[in-house]
Amino acid sequence: MSALVTLQRCGRRVLHARAAFDASRLGRYRSNQPGDSKDDNQLLKHLVMKIKATGPITVAEYMKEVLTNPIKGYYMHHDMLGEHGDFVTSPEISQVFGELIGIWCISEWMSGGKSKSLKLVELGPGKGSLMDDILRVFSQFQHLLNSCDISIHLVEVSPKLSEIQAMKLTGNNIETKYDEDTSAYKKGITKSGFKIYWYSDINDVPAGYTFFIAHEFFDALPIHKLQKTSDRWREMLIDVDPDIPHKLRFVLGSSTSPLAQTFIQADEKRDHIEVSPQSAVIIQKLARQINHCGGAALIADYGHSGDKTDTFRGFRAHQLHNVLIDPGTADLTADVDFGFLKRIVGNDVATLGPITQQEFLKNMGIDLRMKVLLDNNKDESTQQHLLQSYDFLMNPSKMGS
Ligand SMILES: C[S@@+](CC[C@H](N)C(=O)[O-])C[C@H]1O[C@@H](n2cnc3c(N)ncnc32)[C@H](O)[C@@H]1O
Repeated sequence: MSALVTLQRCGRRVLHARAAFDASRLGRYRSNQPGDSKDDNQLLKHLVMKIKATGPITVAEYMKEVLTNPIKGYYMHHDMLGEHGDFVTSPEISQVFGELIGIWCISEWMSGGKSKSLKLVELGPGKGSLMDDILRVFSQFQHLLNSCDISIHLVEVSPKLSEIQAMKLTGNNIETKYDEDTSAYKKGITKSGFKIYWYSDINDVPAGYTFFIAHEFFDALPIHKLQKTSDRWREMLIDVDPDIPHKLRFVLGSSTSPLAQTFIQADEKRDHIEVSPQSAVIIQKLARQINHCGGAALIADYGHSGDKTDTFRGFRAHQLHNVLIDPGTADLTADVDFGFLKRIVGNDVATLGPITQQEFLKNMGIDLRMKVLLDNNKDESTQQHLLQSYDFLMNPSKMGS
């Protein structure tokens, strides 16, 4: 059976949720004056030169450079996750989150006919915590899974994060010399004995019966911003402010955006939309692969069903951050349009959801799991921590919705 499951959630960047996580850390944040970027920001200099040479760039191009530029891109060389970083995500809050996704995988595998082999692919695995928790569940259900040849495939663009993942998942049991033809840039054996591979591009992952997991991945993919003016849709671009050196600003493209014809629906009611062609390409790839080889995908992110407008924003040290200031020092993100993703996959696969995180975790048995953990951990501070993290994941005013 083929299924594409979408799961909508409210994410790491919900300000009050993060503030509650560790309000004391917020003191660390020292903002520049509004409008200032650091003089020595190499990425900013590179962007300014590029814009001066070829003209204003799209928001998608800006996002791509700022997040994944090989030299100075935000994701490439540092660890931004957790209370000492810029944001926190559900897998970092509690092991229970990943464990329940592990349960989801096993239940899908069973209801899908217990295939003889399974590729578990995670897109954008961050610190590897989600996969670590999933694999611990797989080990506990080894008696069920031992008839299945399971391999792990991580799609990660960041050299720094891939190192952290390798350490967490394999204890650095990594092979540098390959005895087989693979497009992986790294491979090894997990602590629980599964083969594990790293790729920088989803297209490099070998085909087969696959479960794809993408947690807070799609929100990091570049978006274009289209604005409806009195007569047509035009694209918002990023330009250099002519009055202030090294200051970026938004401008409106002068002609009709060619993207409008492809991506704007005839009945579109909004006058501003954000669209991610890269997300479209990736979701199509997932759907086709599931259609041809079987499997499922679980897409978890904060998002909407095609009704939101301007959601592009930056986060640094758990605070909102102006997206055009000090590029490369803050995360850039936009809400995922689940309506768009579903429209793109069309009838290639069955799509379910989105549903809230709270509902998904309830369905997967979070209350039972919490009871077991609380029964097994009588220490008061551990119990308090467990209850706090449950509240973080489930409370609709935090990550639950
Ligand atoms: C917001 S983090 C989420 C990390 C993790 N899934 C979590 O929820 O804690 C986004 C992840 O996607 C990766 N990433 C971003 N853009 C990517 C791209 N174009 N290709 C592959 N990985 C990418 C980042 O390096 C990072 O691991």
